[in-house]
Amino acid sequence: MTSRATWPIEPHTQAKHNLLRFYLDAWFPILSSRNNPHVIFLDGFAGPGIYAEGEPGSPIVALNTLMSHSHFSRMSQTKFTFILIERDSYCFKSLKGQLRDYWSDFGGKPNNVFIHPINNEFRNVAEQTVTATQGRLAPTLAFIDPFGWSGVPMATIRDLLSTRKCEVIFNFMYDSVNRFVADETPSVAHHFAELFGTEGMEHHHLASDRATEDRKTFLRDLYVDQLRTVGGFRFVTPFEVINQNRGRTAYFLVFGTRSPTGFDRMKGAMWRVDPESGCRYSGDEGDQLSLFPPQPNLGPLKTAILDRFAGTTVGVNRLEQFVVEETRYTSTQYKRVLKDLESEGSISCVSGRKKAGTYPPRTVLRFEPLKDSRHPAPPNHSNDGYSSSSSFSSE
Ligand SMILES: C[S@@+](CC[C@H](N)C(=O)[O-])C[C@H]1O[C@@H](n2cnc3c(N)ncnc32)[C@H](O)[C@@H]1O
Repeated sequence: MTSRATWPIEPHTQAKHNLLRFYLDAWFPILSSRNNPHVIFLDGFAGPGIYAEGEPGSPIVALNTLMSHSHFSRMSQTKFTFILIERDSYCFKSLKGQLRDYWSDFGGKPNNVFIHPINNEFRNVAEQTVTATQGRLAPTLAFIDPFGWSGVPMATIRDLLSTRKCEVIFNFMYDSVNRFVADETPSVAHHFAELFGTEGMEHHHLASDRATEDRKTFLRDLYVDQLRTVGGFRFVTPFEVINQNRGRTAYFLVFGTRSPTGFDRMKGAMWRVDPESGCRYSGDEGDQLSLFPPQPNLGPLKTAILDRFAGTTVGVNRLEQFVVEETRYTSTQYKRVLKDLESEGSISCVSGRKKAGTYPPRTVLRFEPLKDSRHPAPPNHSNDGYSSSSSFSSE
């Protein structure tokens, strides 16, 4: 039942929660195992903790991912803090109630888990946190999920998450940005300059003349580029979320990290939500339990690998680094492509392995030169199926 504090959940919101859950499932144990005594999950726009029919909100999704984790008992040396920020007093009250119920159902809160619900604005709390920690926040995943485009300055995200192990999942509310970005009213324009971390009005002028698809790509890439260059995250990638009821893009979940491992794991989470292309939720994925579940399209990865390495000799470690850092594919996917290439005779093993068709880290491979113009794209502008090469590392 919808109340003043809750609203019905939509399928694309569940896709957003799935992405969060899949990533945290990998993130909690990795951070915990790497000698981090303290890790933080910060939900900047936490919501009421529950949807109209009882579905969990993002704070409960995150908490439950930790508490139900098969490795939780092995993470007892790590202190986990959940900072849950919610401005609206009705939503905040609901959130506190949900947390109470959660621990009561769970049978009590473990000693290494700390919950800080805060009834305030994200921006205020972020600024106070920067002052209190002198810009040295413990390793943090910040989930920043606003309703719109105000109150989320790029500079706030940069300052809050400036330490090496901090990461962000930012909900870039494309549909709402798109409706207002051309508005030149100074009070509106000011929010957009803050959102993008741009000095002036360039996003208005550059966005307003474009047709729909072009504009979408432009605004997405502008945010992605700014998160990298201004926000300071070396690896940034967006995941498009379609609102099927409205038949258009609702938002992009933009992930930023400085860690190749984090980047790899987030892309893995994205492939779990979208098994075919790993970069968008369209609402058509409902038949995953069918006899023929969708398979990843590895064609663009094969093309990208050949574009980069044809005619060269390369170690598997370097190849994996390329896949992880410069394509939208993951470290678990490229070996299938290598097998195909080897059976076609496009690559051969120079050294470093005992068994054909396997690619342990020290394997060195020789790539045949390309015989025709099937793969015309130059390195770094590869046909990796992703229209923005800038969405990955610039290096
Ligand atoms: C999109 S909802 C969050 C949903 C939640 N993250 C989830 O996935 O279940 C946005 C929430 O942010 C709250 N909010 C709006 N502006 C805020 C601000 N400046 N700071 C903190 N919370 C805010 C709203 O009251 C609303 O509950």
